[in-house]
Amino acid sequence: MIRTINNNIQDKKSIYLPEIATMVRKEQMTDLDTYFEFELKDRPLGHLYGQFVEISIPGIGEAPISISSPPGKGNRFEMVIRRVGQVTSAIHKLEPGDSVGIRGPFGTSFPMEELRGKNLLFVTGGIGLVPARSAILYALQNRGDYEDITILFGCRDPGQRLFTSELNEWKSRKDIDFLETVDKCEPGEWDGNVGVITTLFPLLKDIDPLETYAIIVGPPVMYKFVIMTLYDMEFSDKHIIVSLERHMKCGVGKCGHCQMNNLYVCQDGPVFVYDTIKHLKEAI
Ligand SMILES: Cc1cc2nc3c(=O)[nH]c(=O)nc-3n(C[C@H](O)[C@H](O)[C@H](O)COP(=O)(O)OP(=O)(O)OC[C@H]3O[C@@H](n4cnc5c(N)ncnc54)[C@H](O)[C@@H]3O)c2cc1C
Ligand code: FES
Repeated sequence: MIRTINNNIQDKKSIYLPEIATMVRKEQMTDLDTYFEFELKDRPLGHLYGQFVEISIPGIGEAPISISSPPGKGNRFEMVIRRVGQVTSAIHKLEPGDSVGIRGPFGTSFPMEELRGKNLLFVTGGIGLVPARSAILYALQNRGDYEDITILFGCRDPGQRLFTSELNEWKSRKDIDFLETVDKCEPGEWDGNVGVITTLFPLLKDIDPLETYAIIVGPPVMYKFVIMTLYDMEFSDKHIIVSLERHMKCGVGKCGHCQMNNLYVCQDGPVFVYDTIKHLKEAI
């Protein structure tokens, strides 16, 4: 069900050779997270939902970052990058017109074609919304192809909400269910749900576990509790799809940095059907 899609043009070149992409838009989203739009000169990126690229700054380094936009924006694609270290801080200092190196797209994708006709339950936490958004926007653009769509989003506090105008639009849509929560907030700062993401599940209307696929992307601590809740709802492992994050270097299955037993998360993942990894102690 989960396939690795390698970009055709990238296949013909060295997988280690970055292409130049130009920043066309930059918007600060939270204290640490900034939205960027980039453009490749000669071609669309050719990615699928949930894939990532290696983004580099000469003389500084390279980092794997998920693509946040769905395919179909011509040569442009979007990312949200959290400033945590050398590469991500250097990217935050760039301005529209500046260039970065891009390798990819790499990795497996959310199986949006195979999920047509099914109910989708997206469970996203923090910056996990970024890769999930490419699949969410695709499903919303092709709303008629899917049955019920439910989106759950949780973050630390109201200041950490990403894509706030989109979240507000999702909240007002009648053809999807969108629920969000924050772990904590100051008095008067937030009139929504407070608590970890699993506190949203009792608020959901009936979900048929046989016809629904859950897509989970969030911080490591979230997976175990969300999966336990899905088990309580009688979801099978084949109906749970996760995207995992590991330290990566090459992004193409050569260096072993992302290895998880016999799997390379950069190539066999980051998107996995849960039944293929649940036996791996270090997976979740
Ligand atoms: C498939 C994939 C998709 C990703 N998508 C995004 C995204 O969309 N947006 C985003 O902001 N980040 C994303 N990340 C995380 C991002 O790659 C790291 O934050 C980045 O590599 C840090 O690079 P740096 O040079 O700025 O930090 P460094 O200077 O290398 O490190 C800063 C700190 O972050 C830690 N760190 C670095 N990489 C990781 C990692 N993968 N997991 C946990 N800790 C790490 C280091 O140990 C160190 O403590 C993704 C990672 C993977 C594997
Ligand atoms: S990052 Fe090198 S093998 Fe996965």
